[in-house]
Amino acid sequence: MLDRNRLPSDPAQFAERRTRFMEELGDAVAVVPASAEMIRNNDVAFDFRQDSDFFFLTGFDEPDAVAMFDPTSDEPYTLFVRPRDRDMEIWTGYRAGVDGARERFGADAAYDVAEFQAQLRQRVADRSAIYVKPGSRIEGEVTATLAALQPLRERFGSRTPSAALDPSELLHDLRLRKSVFEVDHLRRACDISVDAHIEAIRFTEPGMHEYHVQAALEYVFRAKGSVRNGYPSIVASGPNACVLHYIENDRKMADGDLLLIDAGCEYGYFSADITRTFPVGGTFTKPQAAVYEVVLAAEQAALQECRPGSDLRTVHETAVRVVTEGLVELGLIPTSVDDALEMHLYREFFMHGTSHWLGMDVHDCGSTRIEGKPRPLEAAMAFTVEPGVYINPDRPTVTYTLQAYDLDQRFERRLRLGPAAKSLEDEETSSSPTVDHEIPEEFLGIGIRIEDDVLVTDEEFENLSEGVPVEMDAIEALWRESSWVPAV
Ligand code: GLY
Ligand code: MN
Ligand code: MN
Repeated sequence: MLDRNRLPSDPAQFAERRTRFMEELGDAVAVVPASAEMIRNNDVAFDFRQDSDFFFLTGFDEPDAVAMFDPTSDEPYTLFVRPRDRDMEIWTGYRAGVDGARERFGADAAYDVAEFQAQLRQRVADRSAIYVKPGSRIEGEVTATLAALQPLRERFGSRTPSAALDPSELLHDLRLRKSVFEVDHLRRACDISVDAHIEAIRFTEPGMHEYHVQAALEYVFRAKGSVRNGYPSIVASGPNACVLHYIENDRKMADGDLLLIDAGCEYGYFSADITRTFPVGGTFTKPQAAVYEVVLAAEQAALQECRPGSDLRTVHETAVRVVTEGLVELGLIPTSVDDALEMHLYREFFMHGTSHWLGMDVHDCGSTRIEGKPRPLEAAMAFTVEPGVYINPDRPTVTYTLQAYDLDQRFERRLRLGPAAKSLEDEETSSSPTVDHEIPEEFLGIGIRIEDDVLVTDEEFENLSEGVPVEMDAIEALWRESSWVPAV
């Protein structure tokens, strides 16, 4: 029998998500597309991974489908799917088809995806609104359908919607707070990823290439039941750690290098996102240890701000202050801590945010602000805490611009003025004083990030990735243990 192992693990969970989504829709219609199959070359496709919004609502992992949600109709949940096709199924695997969509995926009705536009036209004519994600691959079909229906509105007074609305807020609010079922999957992704990071630290030795360590890490992902990574593994040794999303993973590592591994597996469509930085030869050098202490202190302080009622802005500002204190102390920033904060000088070395939501996507959906203010954290939200310090090997002299500015105001102006804001910023920068500062040579090329995955609980938080040590002596002790993954 061909592969039929494509049923959602717990269909009731998907049905319950659809119910919650349709409660939000009222008498509107929403259409949510599956990911398309992407051709890599000739008849070879890129690895397929279903769109998270689509999978969240359907549990259906075939490409090119569309889900329609129409709560006030007799067929509130309709799936449009690729039809059964014996010839194609011999090449590319089993398809559920129209019958399977109804019988096994709980659709009230199902059609060949070729019928989507005709069905949409019939459904949407007298609905209050239609939701489709802007930029999605079916937006054009929806827009064309609405245009074709406009005479109904103009000549017969039908309430046909005139334009489509973005469903992201409705849908992403549902994804932001994790159910028990979802937390179970996220926890499993983190547990497997913890085991893999531990093994990678034990496995690493000078002389290996980064991809050897990647292989050991990802072997553990697969061996423990994860079918794919949450994102491409970052295995960045030495100066490569200063490239935030480095994924070439092909450098030969030497004693004295640090290795930054940022990797997380996916389990049941939930992703972990863990970073540890450790010495390739098992011992931190003095300058490496000095920078590591700063990042670790920032991470631990930021974690203490993770609880209901706090917010990601506070978590970030806590990390920024501790990093800045450390950078001033180490002589990397030549001003007072307060001045360095006001002028955002830490951004030379810590240029990314401290947190992002975590869930089905590694950079998960959901806004971090509500009505202009940071969104208060609530139980069952999940996110990362990941401060870092990256000292560019090619910038032995840093030119700091001594100009205080407010990040929010700057961002607001960028949104309001578009590209014109950039010229204003350039003008402000060029009219501000600067200072050249030598970076002590021993620090050049050090890149360190520590990243944990946090679940907010009723009163505080749970660190889902705390199983991988962060203290330097514990990391060095772990490195000395032997790995159960065969050496290369
Ligand atoms: N792995 C990407 C990130 O940490 O955000
Ligand atoms: Mn990461
Ligand atoms: Mn992250």
